[in-house]
Amino acid sequence: MLALSSSTALADDVEVLHWWTSGGEAAALNVLKEDLAEQGIGWFDMPVAGGGGEGAMTALRARVTAGNAPTAVQMLGFDIIDWANEGVLGNLDEVAMAEGWDAVVPEALQFFSKHEGHWIAAPVNVHSTNWVWMNKSALADTGLAEPTNWEELVAVLDAMKENGITPLGHGGQAWQDATLFDSVVLSLGDDFYKTTMIDLNMDALGGEKMVQAFERMATLRSYVDDNFSGRDWNLASTMVLNGTAGMQIMGDWAKGEFLRAGKVPGEDFVCIRFPGTQGAVTFNSDQFVMFDVDHGKDAQKAMAAAVMNPVFQSAFNVVKGSVPARTDVSNADFDACGQKGMADLADAGSNGRLFGSMAHGHSVPASVKNAIYDVVTAHFNGEYDAQTAASELVNAVESAM
Ligand code: BGC
Repeated sequence: MLALSSSTALADDVEVLHWWTSGGEAAALNVLKEDLAEQGIGWFDMPVAGGGGEGAMTALRARVTAGNAPTAVQMLGFDIIDWANEGVLGNLDEVAMAEGWDAVVPEALQFFSKHEGHWIAAPVNVHSTNWVWMNKSALADTGLAEPTNWEELVAVLDAMKENGITPLGHGGQAWQDATLFDSVVLSLGDDFYKTTMIDLNMDALGGEKMVQAFERMATLRSYVDDNFSGRDWNLASTMVLNGTAGMQIMGDWAKGEFLRAGKVPGEDFVCIRFPGTQGAVTFNSDQFVMFDVDHGKDAQKAMAAAVMNPVFQSAFNVVKGSVPARTDVSNADFDACGQKGMADLADAGSNGRLFGSMAHGHSVPASVKNAIYDVVTAHFNGEYDAQTAASELVNAVESAM
């Protein structure tokens, strides 16, 4: 099937490898497909299911090794840097210069979109991971206000439990556990997040605060249902939207699922920053990376230009749940959560409170990220107590570096 799609791809087509397979993601992808179709660019779809993109990255490796790279690939942060270092990516400078990307793409994204001064990727969005999505009536049933700190969050979770619903909708997959970890670590302080998840300071990785982070993870674990293991993230979103679960701690792609189901922010669901992380943002950006292919370079350039078009960036991100990857897009078409996301991103950027998401490949290279995943998941599943998890984290990170 892969061979078929690549061998039948014409010069004016793009074959796109991505992991946008949930309902909300597919709806957003359609905005892109239709935009390209209007410009006469055909689409060969190569979806590889699996949130966070691990499966997609494995499939990509196989394709490149076979000498058959797709024309365009959805990619995150440090994966882009890894591929750029292998010297197999195309160059988007011509379109970037013509369209002035340097002036409108935030520095934090350019760090990943450029390699040795050359544009190698077109960022389509900015997501962030430190969000909580709550069913509004489930929150109202607790009689409590939106939580603003850890203690208040635990009080809301307890009250939801008493009300007979699953307090925390969650899927037991390593990347989802890691997504919780982003928020929990950040809730113990900006410095703590930066020192551990970005600077990889060994003392902090194995220190008292990290033990506390793992204790918080264990507390969160106590609020998931018995069937959480292996559940896809979008099914956890569905639990929240139909009220069998009270909340989900997840990146803003979750909002794409709520919108797709016709739910309205502020009426049916509430979006808040993970308590204790207000004002700070752990971000990730989906970028389209173009490989250095023999055929289809024009289509690649056209796709890159289409992705960066400000009108498209608004239309796409309104559906996806993310916010634009350029600073000059109006927030007029975004719902309240999207507008908050845009304002938070700008504020966090100017206040030095914008950090790459560990869970989604923007704080450390994939090898280290995977080492952190292993420990976080093992602890979440009860293999380690908090103290052991912190020491194992040091061991795992050290051997991955
Ligand atoms: C991507 C999102 C995607 C999510 C779940 C994240 O890593 O950045 O675009 O919706 O994974 O699949």
